[in-house]
Amino acid sequence: MKRALFLAAFWLIPTLAAVGGTPVAVAPEARASPLPSKGPAFISIATGRSALVFAVDGAGRLQQVAFGRKGLVPPETTALPDWATDALPCAGNGYLLEPALQVIHSDGNISTELGYVSHGMKRETPDCVVTRITLRDRFYPLTVTLCFRAYEAEDIIEQWTEIVHEEPGAVVLGRYASAAPAFQAGAYWVSQFQGDVLREGELGEEKLTRGLKVLDSKLTVRAHFHRNPSFLLALGAPAQEEAGEVIGGALAWPGNFQFGFDVDWNGHLRVLAGANPFGAEYRLAAGKVFATPAMLWSWSDAGKGQVSRSFHRWARKYGVRDGDKPRPILLNNWETTFFDFNETKLLALFDGAKDLGIDLFLLDDGWFSDKDPKNHQRIGLGDWKANPKILPHGLSFLVDEAKKRGFGFGIWMEPESVHLGSDVYRAHPDWVLQQPHRELNAFNRQTLLDLTRPEAKEFVWDAIRRTLGGNPGISYLKWDANRVAPQPGSTYLPPDQQQNLPVDYQVGLEDLMRRMRDTYPDVMAMLCAGGGGRVDYGSLKYFHSFWPSDSTDPLQRIYIQWGYSHFYPAWALSAHVTSMGHRPLKFALDVALTGALGIDRDVGKLTDEDRLLLTQGIAVYRTKVRDLIQHGDLYRLESPYDGKRAVLSYVAEDRARALAFVYQLGETGVGPVKLRGLDPARRYRVTELNLPPGTKSRLAIDGRTLTGAELMDFGFVSPLSRAVESAVIEFSPAAESTVK
Ligand code: GLA
Repeated sequence: MKRALFLAAFWLIPTLAAVGGTPVAVAPEARASPLPSKGPAFISIATGRSALVFAVDGAGRLQQVAFGRKGLVPPETTALPDWATDALPCAGNGYLLEPALQVIHSDGNISTELGYVSHGMKRETPDCVVTRITLRDRFYPLTVTLCFRAYEAEDIIEQWTEIVHEEPGAVVLGRYASAAPAFQAGAYWVSQFQGDVLREGELGEEKLTRGLKVLDSKLTVRAHFHRNPSFLLALGAPAQEEAGEVIGGALAWPGNFQFGFDVDWNGHLRVLAGANPFGAEYRLAAGKVFATPAMLWSWSDAGKGQVSRSFHRWARKYGVRDGDKPRPILLNNWETTFFDFNETKLLALFDGAKDLGIDLFLLDDGWFSDKDPKNHQRIGLGDWKANPKILPHGLSFLVDEAKKRGFGFGIWMEPESVHLGSDVYRAHPDWVLQQPHRELNAFNRQTLLDLTRPEAKEFVWDAIRRTLGGNPGISYLKWDANRVAPQPGSTYLPPDQQQNLPVDYQVGLEDLMRRMRDTYPDVMAMLCAGGGGRVDYGSLKYFHSFWPSDSTDPLQRIYIQWGYSHFYPAWALSAHVTSMGHRPLKFALDVALTGALGIDRDVGKLTDEDRLLLTQGIAVYRTKVRDLIQHGDLYRLESPYDGKRAVLSYVAEDRARALAFVYQLGETGVGPVKLRGLDPARRYRVTELNLPPGTKSRLAIDGRTLTGAELMDFGFVSPLSRAVESAVIEFSPAAESTVK
């Protein structure tokens, strides 16, 4: 079982060097440590299953003792195990590997040596304990607090670091990882979710080899475009779905991130996770607290399935805004009209939506701009005035027309962006991100406002306030961000603080998101960034759902949704039925059912058959699917990466009901579908749902009653045989529901 412990490693060289290494500038008497020489026995950050354990060594340094199964370290023991290692390795005073913290002090000293000062634990809610461990430099007035929030029932540990100093001048933070857990020598596999436009969330796993492997982002805005800020670390063997030790890590941060996996010459692993310090060496004034973004961890001894279920449960309670509220079923016009719409076309769409069962119409990009003779819908990007040429009666008219037809109205905005032809840019060209002596890099003549500049930030807030507050019937906002920041410079920040921009931009952005949530508690919001360019738990607490990709081809969406499902719950992932890929409507619907459902089709022009199928699909979602995917547990049964079929299921918390979604990706025949997570002793009645009207189920067990054990051990034969066929199967309590 020793392998299973994956305790932290003892690193001989750094420790010896740290003991002997003294910064030359400091007289020995000045180093006489004011810190307690002996701390408490163990500080355990524990959830239901796992624990991250620290202890203070004889020299007053905080050491990481364990990260894994709870109870590995006897709490009463006072002797430090020899595999303990620095909790937060600092650069410059003996530590020779990739550091978690690098501080350039105001006198130019680039070394830091932290010692334990104190710690405190507080139960914040019945489920959460916050622990703060205070460390201080042995010479400089620099305090570093390691902060943790343990969500016991959900098995999530949130970890961040706070840095503050009282040095005579500013200090520069060269490195500032949120967390730096260490693992003993072993074999490790890392899975990342990389991507590009139209193929976000692609799952890729590789074995870590000696050296430093970095997964990062440098785009500043739309920062998750090429990679989501989350990863899985499998210990001892590649990650399996329902077995083996896996740690899931996700950074709650919309900006640049950096995950370093540093395997030393002995095979020990140090993970460094946090905001990306590249081009972001942060100048910190005295007295100001620098709080790193939070890293979220979940440890599992039952594969990545358990990691996902922990994240999903946590997301419902804490991570995503209003996690208990059902998400509205949307009709969106983007892929139906793109920029080519006007009031008449929109009203025709409204009429076409009659009796379909939608909750809300979402008007997408192109509704603004009031001055361009060519009716170029984007020239007013930044001015946010409805275009009278296409919407002669304005937004509130549309809001009312939607209301008359029984649904709500939502609006698209890209509040951070401006067009070079907009009034705001013309009046304030210095308000956008830019570099001196460089030609403005404005793709499509559009660029980004500088959210570190207070006037620009207030302008953005005013635009949101005017749009939502000025049209009180608007009950939904899609907040998009289509641009990256190729020139992350500011005319507001002084020259020596230019590198603060990648962090301070996000601070400004978060302030806007918070104001949006707090001022408009009844307006639901979708997070979007040219597809999945901003999907993270730092933003999702202000949003109800996220747009994962501009690919809505259901065949591709199966992979995209599969990837995101590792960390983000289905009910927060917007999934729209469109025509992309020209797949059968039934297939498109069944794929979108495992998300926050929306329709983006010209609903006024559907054939009778399609209209019936769509209406029925929406009703099935509303009555049988929506609640279960929100409150149930996900089991990924068959990966699309492994064969010609993808299968996933949701099981109610009390295991009384389940739904399976089966998607055929190719022609090859495959074996039975075996369920997981059911109650083996319970009887379930099997019903295939969402059959095209007039067709009969080809599922052999349709209408039968089977036990959970039968469904999990023997499974059932899939009714599908051809590519892009799909089936939704319900397992509901049978009249006599338990086996005697
Ligand atoms: C981005 C979004 C799309 C759509 C367009 C509008 O690409 O991801 O859903 O809103 O912008 O320009």
